[in-house]
Amino acid sequence: MQLWKGRFQKALSKTTNDFNSSISFDSRMYREDIEGSIAHSKMLGECGIISKEDAAAIGEGLRGILADLDSGKLTIDPEAEDIHTFVEGELTSRLGDTGKRLHTARSRNDQVAVDLRLYLRNQIKEISGLTEELLKVICKKAEEHAETIMPGYTHLQRAQPITFGHHLLAYGEMFLRDLKRLSDCSERMDVMPLGSGALAGTTYPIDRRLTADLLSFESVSENSLDGVSDRDYCIELASALSIIMMHLSRFSEEIILWCSHEFKFIELDDAFSTGSSIMPQKKNPDIAELVRGKTGRVYGDLMGLLTVMKGIPLAYNKDMQEDKEAIFDAVDTVKMCLTAFTPMLDTMTVLPQNMRNAAAGGFINATDCADYLTKKGLPFRDAYKATGEIVALCIEKGLTLETLPLDEYKKVCDIFDEGVYEAIGLERCAYERRSQGGPCPDNVRKNADRLKTIIENKLY
Ligand code: ARG
Repeated sequence: MQLWKGRFQKALSKTTNDFNSSISFDSRMYREDIEGSIAHSKMLGECGIISKEDAAAIGEGLRGILADLDSGKLTIDPEAEDIHTFVEGELTSRLGDTGKRLHTARSRNDQVAVDLRLYLRNQIKEISGLTEELLKVICKKAEEHAETIMPGYTHLQRAQPITFGHHLLAYGEMFLRDLKRLSDCSERMDVMPLGSGALAGTTYPIDRRLTADLLSFESVSENSLDGVSDRDYCIELASALSIIMMHLSRFSEEIILWCSHEFKFIELDDAFSTGSSIMPQKKNPDIAELVRGKTGRVYGDLMGLLTVMKGIPLAYNKDMQEDKEAIFDAVDTVKMCLTAFTPMLDTMTVLPQNMRNAAAGGFINATDCADYLTKKGLPFRDAYKATGEIVALCIEKGLTLETLPLDEYKKVCDIFDEGVYEAIGLERCAYERRSQGGPCPDNVRKNADRLKTIIENKLY
């Protein structure tokens, strides 16, 4: 069914109709479409553009349609061109001429723009809620492991001892920034485009501020061409979502490594692992792998949106109908990934002894050995060189810094004394890194508290 039949002699062919139609994917915005129409009709009534009686009947009729769609009494007609057409058609079949007055001073171009903003604003709230849940689990695990020693890595080579809590809270900081990005994006999205009309506003004496208030929008768009053709908010959201996925993907990659036999730092709960159809011993981290894999989809959605928008002249062009499947897919994917990832993290078993054992190899306390000499007065560069020689000596003798006898230390540098063994103790090396942002247990607890307060009070 089309709204624009008057000018045409022939109906669309079935294939053209299917190609042109967006009902299969935009029907998910039915609630927002109806909310937008209720506000628009109320405004038309208040401004005397339609009668108050008509406005009230339209509002009533739209609320009835919404209730019937919610309850399943009314189903969306897959033959309708789009959700806007369907709702208006249904209203007219219920109210007759009164229903036909709804579209006064409006175009589907500003209608779809307002629907999408309303829809995405709600989606951002949901995604922020899921991100908060993830952050809470990260904080809880970090507190449990504020003192758990693990090797910190650079180049995936063991580098310096840190605490597992500190490692987890690095992701806490990333997801906090993601929350800020989402909130920032939501703020910029909070602009009401209805009243832009098809592209050039309208001659009717509309009150756009009233419509904005009825729909709880912060502001009203200031240029009618921009009002109908701006999709920056979709691109911005897809970009924020891509960054969330990038963070989830990095985290997934580490989880996959950590539960391999080569690391064995964690074990995933059976409920979040799968087996192999041929290898009976396998327990695979499929959930983490899928999250890592689905990151590509969301990046693709962002690239798709950027590409759709790059060459279209002002104002609305049908190309822009392509915005919805991309941004909906990005939103759905991120929600699904967060929903799967958080309980997987929550239920994983951490194996602190394996982390401690890994930290004991690889000379990750060598920097602390050099620092020990520096604190005794040797310039750092000389201390670094002496420690390098000690490491080479250990490798040659098959020993560690902890097991190399003091006389061997002294042969390289006579400043060494018994104190070196305390200085290079792994716990001490990690726990004494008290500099702001460092891995010591106090910092872990302080930052977990800080993140929890930010979330609880929505300070992002
Ligand atoms: N289905 C359309 C879209 O998603 C709605 C706007 C249609 N406007 C038009 N002039 N054909 O973009």
